[in-house]
Amino acid sequence: MRRAVLILMLLAGCKQDMAQMPRLDPVSSALGFPHDAAALLPPEGTVARHADLSPVPDALPDQIPLAMLERGRERYDVFCAPCHSPTGDGDGMIVRRGFPPPPSYHDPGLIRAPDRHFYDVITNGYGVMFSYASRVPPADRWAIIAYIRALQLSQRTPVALADAGLAEGEE
Ligand code: HEC
Repeated sequence: MRRAVLILMLLAGCKQDMAQMPRLDPVSSALGFPHDAAALLPPEGTVARHADLSPVPDALPDQIPLAMLERGRERYDVFCAPCHSPTGDGDGMIVRRGFPPPPSYHDPGLIRAPDRHFYDVITNGYGVMFSYASRVPPADRWAIIAYIRALQLSQRTPVALADAGLAEGEE
């Protein structure tokens, strides 16, 4: 019994010390630390744990796989359609609420513009449009560009030339 009391007292003492220790929350500010922050910056060149390190192409493939187009459409609808509109004419929902309207993808200048121009606009932003580099990884940028090319084609192709199978598809 006495031993138990002693152990209890010792444990209580420990608890007290721990509770009074100075500590820093993971992302709190900490004057005097590097960058005055409790969290250290990752060393330069650090790669995220699940990063995809496969080389990214620097052009569209000659034959665009259907999966790439589908991925492009999905990403386009998330990141671009709010301003550029689902058809690419620049009349998206954000624009209708007052954001400056972007040019239509169906303008001759953007039909002629090289694929790389679209890639650079997504990466660096353009005028009032901000950069999507942190939200759209390189492979997705190409997928989106493939889909924008499809959108452009869709507005310029006479119905008679559209492939019958595609025209009768679910969408
Ligand atoms: C918040 C609204 C907004 C979103 C979202 C947006 N854009 Fe834009 N984009 C604009 C505006 C506005 C311009 C015109 C900018 C200017 O001329 O100052 C523009 C211009 C462009 C241009 C034309 C550049 C040129 O040569 O005239 C391209 C290409 C483009 N955007 C692609 C994209 C793609 C691809 C995405 C999706 C990854 C995207 N934008 C998302 C607003 C947006």
